Amino acid sequence: MAEPSGSDSLRTSLGSLQLANPVLSASGTFGSGWEGRDFSPLSRVGALVSKTVTVRPRHGNPPPRLAETPSGMLNSIGLENKGADYFLAETLPRMRTLCRRIIINIGGEAVDEFVELAERFCEAGVDALEVNLSCPNVQEGRLLFSTEARMCERAVTAVKRVATVPVFAKLSPNVTDVTAIARAAEQGGADGITAINTLIGMAVDWRRRRPVLGRGIGGLSGPAIKPVALRMVHEISRAVRIPVIGVGGARTAEDVLEFVCAGARAVQVGTAAFVDPAVLVSIVEELARLLAAAKTTITELCGSLQAPIPVAPQPAVAPISFAPQPAVAPRPGPAGQAEGR
Ligand SMILES: Cc1cc2nc3c(=O)[nH]c(=O)nc-3n(C[C@H](O)[C@H](O)[C@H](O)COP(=O)(O)O)c2cc1C
Repeated sequence: MAEPSGSDSLRTSLGSLQLANPVLSASGTFGSGWEGRDFSPLSRVGALVSKTVTVRPRHGNPPPRLAETPSGMLNSIGLENKGADYFLAETLPRMRTLCRRIIINIGGEAVDEFVELAERFCEAGVDALEVNLSCPNVQEGRLLFSTEARMCERAVTAVKRVATVPVFAKLSPNVTDVTAIARAAEQGGADGITAINTLIGMAVDWRRRRPVLGRGIGGLSGPAIKPVALRMVHEISRAVRIPVIGVGGARTAEDVLEFVCAGARAVQVGTAAFVDPAVLVSIVEELARLLAAAKTTITELCGSLQAPIPVAPQPAVAPISFAPQPAVAPRPGPAGQAEGR
C-alpha cells in the first residue's frame, strides 16, 4: 500500500495517533471506502472512518431517507448496518487494504453495547474508535447520549476502561451548550472530540402536506452547516485540552484550513464526497500547495484564530433590566377612555 500523502507540513496527531495528513472521511458518508476505491487512491487520506457499527444489524428508517436542500442535504438513514459480526468478518479486512489508518465509529443504545463494540474492535487491531453519541439511550428515557453531560461521561468512561486505542467522542450540535458536553467527554477520558454530527432539520412537500423524509425529520449536513461547525469547533477547542476533529460542510482545502485555524487538528469530509467521490484526495493535494504558499504547517496553524468569542453561549434573550423604566402613557380605549387593565 502506498504511503499516505504527507509532507511534514501536513502531519498531525490525535492523542497518540499520528496521521500523515489531517483529511479524514466522515462516518456514514463514504461507506467503508470500498465503494469509492476506483475514484482515487484512498491510501493517501489521513484515515478512513467507518459508518456507525452497532452490535446487532439495524434496518434503518423508512424511505425516503435523503432530501437535497439549499447548500445541504437531509438524511434519516437511521444507522442501517449489518452489525458487528458482519463488519468484523467482511468489511474491516477490506477497509484495511485501502488505507493505513482505520477509525471505527461505534453506536449503541446502552453503555454495555458501546463497551462490547470497543472490546471487539480493539481486539481486531483498529487504530482508533469514534463513539457516536448521537444514539438514544434506551435505558434512560431514549435521550441521546450526546444531549446530557452525565450520560455522555458515563458512556465515554466505560469505553475508555476497555479501549486500548485512542477514543474520540463524536458530539451532536443539537444542544444549548456543546462545551459542557465536550468537557464531560474529556472528564470521561476521551482522547479527542469530533464535532459536529448533523443538525436536526425538516423538508416539506406542501402539495402532499407531508414531510419529504419518511421519518419526518432528518440530519442536515453539507456547506449549509459549516458556519455552525466552525463556531462549535472553536468553542470546544478553547474549552478542552484534548484535540478536536472538525466536521461539517468542508468541501475544499480552504475549508479544511479554516477548521484547523479555528482549532481542529484534523478535519472530516462527508457530504462533499457525494458530489465528488475523489474530493478527499484532491483536498490533500491542494492542502500541501496552500500551506507551502503560506509558509506554514498544520501544527502551526492549528488554533491560531484570534477571535474574541466567549466560551460559554450568551443568553438567547437580553437580561432583564431592573433599571427604572420610563412611564408609559395610557392608550385611549375605544370610547376615548383609558383601558383600565
Ligand atoms: C448520509 C449520511 C449518513 C451519515 N451516517 C453517519 C453515521 O453512521 N455515524 C455518524 O457518526 N455520523 C453520520 N453522519 C454524519 C457525518 O459523519 C457528519 O458528521 C455530518 O454529515 C457533517 O459533515 P458533512 O457536512 O461534511 O457531511 C452521516 C451523514 C450523512 C450525510
